[in-house]
Amino acid sequence: MPMIIALDGPAASGKGTLARRLAAHYGLPHLDTGLLYRATALALIEAGEAPDDETRAVAAARGLALTDFDEAKLRTRETGQAASIVAAIPGVRAALLETQRAFAARPGGAVLDGRDIGTVICPGAQAKIFVTASPETRAGRRALELAGRGGGADYAGILRDIRERDARDSGRASAPLLAAADAVRLDTTHLDVEAAFQAALEIVEARRSRV
Ligand code: DC
Repeated sequence: MPMIIALDGPAASGKGTLARRLAAHYGLPHLDTGLLYRATALALIEAGEAPDDETRAVAAARGLALTDFDEAKLRTRETGQAASIVAAIPGVRAALLETQRAFAARPGGAVLDGRDIGTVICPGAQAKIFVTASPETRAGRRALELAGRGGGADYAGILRDIRERDARDSGRASAPLLAAADAVRLDTTHLDVEAAFQAALEIVEARRSRV
């Protein structure tokens, strides 16, 4: 039976790293669904349009190709903030829904990470993990990541961004960030990458043995 692993959680909670590690472990394809929202936002930024322009945002989401993602541009703070704004537009979410479901329906299974994978995109996923960490820990990780990419590591500004994004992603009416009722919570605040991976693996294995 194909296995779908859904990871959801707030910005910089560690879900992306866990998703990549789980995908490599099980030999499954991985989709970081945040990239779809980021690419939609970047298309608007590059065209000089506002991220809350609904008509343009929906057109940008519909025009996305899953390939050719320039991660260096997609992972900036500016793109992350704009992504959180476009992601609140129901038409944008609808435009990206089928792409995500098609990815999840691959014959061997898949790993997807985002905000609404366990609740909206793949409600039937075998394993659902809701990854959290304190805002301060997440800001510290994001600062390190941005510094590693050659960007500035303004910790206070990053923490502010993270709190703003948490509020917007959790407070929006359309598919807000929410743990599915059958998701297992994994708090990575005090875990390093290896310990978090082992904990995630245990959650998936426990689910697998039940199906
Ligand atoms: O995970 P990320 O930081 O790359 O996500 C960028 C933004 O995209 C995030 O603030 C909210 C939005 N997003 C979403 O609404 N639903 C998803 N499944 C993934 C991301």
